[in-house]
Amino acid sequence: MDFKISASILNANFLNLQKDIDEVIDVIDEIHFDIMDGRFVENISYGPQVLSSLRKRYKETVFDTHLMIDNPGKYWKNFQKAGSDIIVFHYEATPHSYIILKKIKESGLKSGISVTPGTDISILKPLKNYLDRLLIMTVEPGFGGQKYIPEMLKKVEKARKIFGNKIDIEVDGGIKNSNIKDFKDAGANVFVIGSYIFKADNKKQNVMNLRKLI
Ligand code: DX5
Ligand code: ZN
Repeated sequence: MDFKISASILNANFLNLQKDIDEVIDVIDEIHFDIMDGRFVENISYGPQVLSSLRKRYKETVFDTHLMIDNPGKYWKNFQKAGSDIIVFHYEATPHSYIILKKIKESGLKSGISVTPGTDISILKPLKNYLDRLLIMTVEPGFGGQKYIPEMLKKVEKARKIFGNKIDIEVDGGIKNSNIKDFKDAGANVFVIGSYIFKADNKKQNVMNLRKLI
């Protein structure tokens, strides 16, 4: 199983976004886009135009798109057009997760579902064959810079048991040097890192610190 660092730009310096990303682009595996609509979560972040602008410069980097929005079935294609490689939406945001996953897969993209801390992942078993990635929120979605919820370690263990080794298990929220190894040992293999990278003086060094731990 390969271990991946997915850098969330949510807390990057948007006045110098290119400079921030250029500092780490050759040591991260993915850029993670946290899309928030002010309805599914109580925050508004940014839209597809940020992805299409960055895609002009970062032509090869995997764009991992985390839709924290209502009605993802209506909007995911906008992010495909903007350059997404992986579309992850929230189970809690739609009653139609099966058909949306199926359509994302049929469009040629990788598909994923995300669950908030309060959602039991066993509910996702029927979707197993349509999932490339399972994103387990390790904070309540909406803001970067939060403290992770330790109880989510058990949830990651349970997910790896249920879904096996073919699927990516991604953790997102408060992941840093002090807990990333625990999540790796629990079964996670994709790590969303926001503040620990983009709030750091030496961003590249912090990514390298994490790589040593996974
Ligand atoms: C919450 C976001 C954050 C973000 C990572 O909705 O999904 O988890 O990507 O933020 P940090 O790494 O700063 O907790
Ligand atoms: Zn995220």
